[in-house]
Amino acid sequence: MNTQAVPDPQDHDRLLIIDFGSQVTQLIARRLRELHVYCEIHPYQSVTDAFLAEFAPKAVIFSGGPDSVTRAGSPRPPASVYTLGVPILGICYGQQVMMQDLGGKVEAGEHATAEFGRAYVTPAGTATEFLAGWFTAGGREQVWMSHGDHVSEIAPGFDVLGTSPGAPFAITADLDRRFYAVQFHPEVHHTPNGRALYENFVKLAGFTGDWTMKAYREEAIRAIRDQVGDAKVICGLSGGVDSSVAAVLIHEAIGDQLTCVFVDHGLLRQDEAEQVVTMFRDTYNIPLIHAEESDRFLGELDGVSDPETKRKIIGRLFIDVFQHYADQIEGAAFLAQGTLYPDVIESVSFSGGPSVTIKSHHNVGGLPEKMGLKLVEPLRELFKDEVRALGRELGLPDSFIGRHPFPGPGLAIRCPGEITREKLAILRRADAVFIDQIRKHGLYDEIWQAFVAILPVRTVGVMGDGRTYDFACALRAVTSVDGMTADYYPFTHDFLGETATRIINEVKGINRVTYDITSKPPGTIEWE
Ligand code: XMP
Repeated sequence: MNTQAVPDPQDHDRLLIIDFGSQVTQLIARRLRELHVYCEIHPYQSVTDAFLAEFAPKAVIFSGGPDSVTRAGSPRPPASVYTLGVPILGICYGQQVMMQDLGGKVEAGEHATAEFGRAYVTPAGTATEFLAGWFTAGGREQVWMSHGDHVSEIAPGFDVLGTSPGAPFAITADLDRRFYAVQFHPEVHHTPNGRALYENFVKLAGFTGDWTMKAYREEAIRAIRDQVGDAKVICGLSGGVDSSVAAVLIHEAIGDQLTCVFVDHGLLRQDEAEQVVTMFRDTYNIPLIHAEESDRFLGELDGVSDPETKRKIIGRLFIDVFQHYADQIEGAAFLAQGTLYPDVIESVSFSGGPSVTIKSHHNVGGLPEKMGLKLVEPLRELFKDEVRALGRELGLPDSFIGRHPFPGPGLAIRCPGEITREKLAILRRADAVFIDQIRKHGLYDEIWQAFVAILPVRTVGVMGDGRTYDFACALRAVTSVDGMTADYYPFTHDFLGETATRIINEVKGINRVTYDITSKPPGTIEWE
């Protein structure tokens, strides 16, 4: 019996990514998944000879990393990786590791040879399968470099396939052993044609692209049945895409052995509670408890203005409330969660997770142990875009799947300062107008997340012949790939003007509208 309700990856050709701590290792996995290749990221410390033998990868990628191979004790893969007989691709630090391990030389970074940012690689040596479709426009290709150290001598058996002004060994390969090594990062957006290199690499490693959502759905359903047997499962439904897809998938697997608990903390957007309840109860016929607990949450938040305190109160209450309702479901042995692969990677990552807590994220961590429940996490191998694809495969409407993410603490973190029912009501109306504007202008799908924050300031205005003294609000709309970094959305002035006019005319209590043009970093997406 599986310990987790996830399909057995042994059924697929597998690629192993050895993580040396790069900030962008996850993007390598994303690029590969887009090519329908099953891959897993493992921190270098856990990749031992025994692990390699058991994992039996069809190919291996070494990620980048912040260390210097010239430092004694710097991260390495086990030597046996080079005798597996499978293709290996080394990226940045991964290139340097490969070169040094196999007899080349790496020199520590000096200002003159360090390279950060955009660079152009031109071909050298003979064309190979690995570079098919790579040097497109004008025989040179834009890449993203980010390295202090550099390879000064390539290992025996390697040839140079591409060079850049700062990296004479930008692309190198030992074609006999199928070892490839690049100094730049093909996984990032700033290497626009990077996908071609991954595509060529997996092709020459013999991957067939067998990782499809249809197959995943069937396997996941089998795995859930296998894990759960005839026990009962409870699922905390937030109305977000992840928990919703998990719930529909689990319901398909085990029917009414699943009960969902939807905690309404009074911090939801306009009409949100009704929409969730209607969809799950009426459309999917999933047993659902609607826990209307806004008095309790808003009561405990009364007078609280510190952001972290707010988050902690909400997190604690959520667990209490959830537990209270879950206790009423007799025989519940499992708790379902919409945990995604990025959360899994973060918790086992190279550095042991983020080194600083920027914000305490609200989740139901701690619940399973407290309640003696085992976890069912059928999405723990998927990235967000794959969860959306699975949702579509399960027949969830596009309008639902494409919804912007909404944080667990809800409107509490869009209401800096003290939270009052009055402010929440104003915020809900303003937010609804903003989203309506975005939809009407056909911009919703271009934007990662858009919302209004109500500011803890009143400002003076004039409407008609009278003076007003009402709240100011900030519009926030960002583009992002994964929520880790973000840029503000470049609305036209006409759009912003029209939206401000609508909000002030339609929402009593707001007399000033601003647009937040902070990127992340240095800002965060939410205001608290
Ligand atoms: P920040 O504000 O940290 O947000 O830039 C990044 C993304 O995470 C969402 N977010 C949360 N999601 N619980 C969640 O489920 C939380 O406590 C939480 N805080 C922020 C935020 O909406 C954005 O998509």
